[in-house]
Amino acid sequence: MKHLVSISDLSRDSALQLLSDSEQLASVNDRDIKKLPTLRGKTVVNLFYENSTRTRISFEIAAKRLSADVINFDASTSSLSKGESLRDTALTLQALGADAIVMRHPMAGAATRLATSGWIDASVVNAGDGPHEHPTQALLDALTMQQQLGLGDDFSGLKVLIVGDILHSRVARSNIMLLNLLGASVTVAGPHSLVPLEISSLGVKIHHDFDQALAEKPSVVMMLRVQAERMSKELFPSASSYIKLWSLNPERLSQVESDAIVMHPGPMNRGFEISSAAADDPRSVVLRQVTNGLAVRMAVLQQVLSGGLE
Ligand code: CP
Repeated sequence: MKHLVSISDLSRDSALQLLSDSEQLASVNDRDIKKLPTLRGKTVVNLFYENSTRTRISFEIAAKRLSADVINFDASTSSLSKGESLRDTALTLQALGADAIVMRHPMAGAATRLATSGWIDASVVNAGDGPHEHPTQALLDALTMQQQLGLGDDFSGLKVLIVGDILHSRVARSNIMLLNLLGASVTVAGPHSLVPLEISSLGVKIHHDFDQALAEKPSVVMMLRVQAERMSKELFPSASSYIKLWSLNPERLSQVESDAIVMHPGPMNRGFEISSAAADDPRSVVLRQVTNGLAVRMAVLQQVLSGGLE
């Protein structure tokens, strides 16, 4: 696999292999000397046109743990601010010898464009393209479900509920694709204005009532941030009405099964889509998701740059 721009780049077997590689590579992060020589001599460029905390930092640490050289490209201090195009930026990185470009971009399809343009020889890893996809987030979420729920390679029968702003969520889209590939069943829930009708073509069940969705006893409740920055008009009547209908508040938390897990990709809006009671509940695995992001990104970089674990 040269690029990872979409979950559709993966077969069930290759997805499970990446999860298994991630599990193995995670042990490096518990050692005194947290370093492997695998990517020595390779150069990884983090090309982020949108803000990020978790994804950018974990890709940087992941590349460094594998001994690659890492360049962090900050759109606000680069020649992008002078109007340089994606093509010219890519050609510049090619001239400087980049072996992999990890890109976050506000436009859906930007990572595919970069990977298929012929501008560069480097591998491309999609770190989020607008509302379209975020494949490494879906992989780290699947790894977290596997570990926390003791699934092994068998996701069949797993019920996952994804709640909130489905419309703008690359996390939801990549999770739905990967969980379907692995055999889980996915329900999405949110207000009509934030659940696009075409999402059902991805093979999900849709609810417009959070409490009814919880009554189906999902083993995973994944809350999503409301992405106000992607909304050009009001998509719900008021913050208070959204909180009343769609927040994972203490009352709804009490309906979540005792052995279920609560997930959120971050950043969280505490008090909005998720209460602090839910974010800090023993069933919350939000920080485990962050930790798993490091191992998954090590596995993905190793896969695209050197063909994965032996
Ligand atoms: N989950 C996620 O992509 O977080 P960041 O935007 O902080 O990278």
